[in-house]
Amino acid sequence: MTDLTMNPGNTQLYSPRQMLAHSARFWFFITAMGQMAFVIYIAAFYGGSALRGDYDAWDGRMFNGFISGDLLGNLNILLHIVFAFVITASGPIQFIPAVRNRFRTFHRWNGRIYASSAVLISIGALYLTWTRNGIGAPILDIGISLNAVAIISFAVLSARSAMKRNFRSHHRWTLRLFLAVSGVWYMRLGFGLYAFLTGGQMPGSTQMLDGPFDISLNFAITLVPLALLELYFRAIDSKNGLAQSLMSAVVCVLAVATAIGSFMAAQIFWLSSFS
Ligand code: HEM
Repeated sequence: MTDLTMNPGNTQLYSPRQMLAHSARFWFFITAMGQMAFVIYIAAFYGGSALRGDYDAWDGRMFNGFISGDLLGNLNILLHIVFAFVITASGPIQFIPAVRNRFRTFHRWNGRIYASSAVLISIGALYLTWTRNGIGAPILDIGISLNAVAIISFAVLSARSAMKRNFRSHHRWTLRLFLAVSGVWYMRLGFGLYAFLTGGQMPGSTQMLDGPFDISLNFAITLVPLALLELYFRAIDSKNGLAQSLMSAVVCVLAVATAIGSFMAAQIFWLSSFS
């Protein structure tokens, strides 16, 4: 298959490469909207209750939350929420071409804030994970730590490629970073989507988060998006129209799954916190 031509006999509207680019934009739009819902929840719930001085509300949402006497852990919880807000708000902006091209200084500073917040939240979260009572099956600590290590590694590689002015590589490492940072958001979407697909039955998931579904999801939130991203890169680099069309279909399905997962997560986790 070749690019779109002006030949009247050619009924093909878009080339496979253009279709892939449009699908990626569709996926990105849905993702940015879903992350906006998450960041509104963080600001409204945690920011709102902090402004009222009602930190008990935070404890009501978390497994451990604030623990009397654990100064370092409690400070970490506070910073975790601040950085969660910063990275969820600043991440998607980095990928909007109009912003990147027209406001370069903003792009650079926003990128620095995003990457350093991602590293700091991950280091703090590793501390929380390994010093406090675990949530769910013990193996979940390994799965979520893998996510934190991926975030730290990709932030370093993204910054290094930017400093070397290798922008193709920088763009790819930043996309990997964005997906790894989105891991905990994918966790919420994963539960939401699974609730939707199983009509709320959710076999393999338990209250204690130690079922096979809970454990698989814990690893999948890091590994599956990164594996799909590598396939996407291969499709972009390839000259094979069929591979690009297939990838474009996969990206559209993922966008729809993201929309359903976001809607369900908002219902289950975020809107419920205000009732
Ligand atoms: C990088 C992006 C991250 C964001 C945006 C984020 C966001 C959040 C939010 C909003 C909460 C409060 C619970 C809720 O309302 O849903 C939370 C709790 C928590 N996060 Fe993260 N998180 C991130 C990364 C991580 C990582 C990488 C880890 C582990 C290595 C982690 C470990 C935890 C733990 C242990 C809690 C619960 C604390 C408790 O229940 O006492 N987070 N996170």
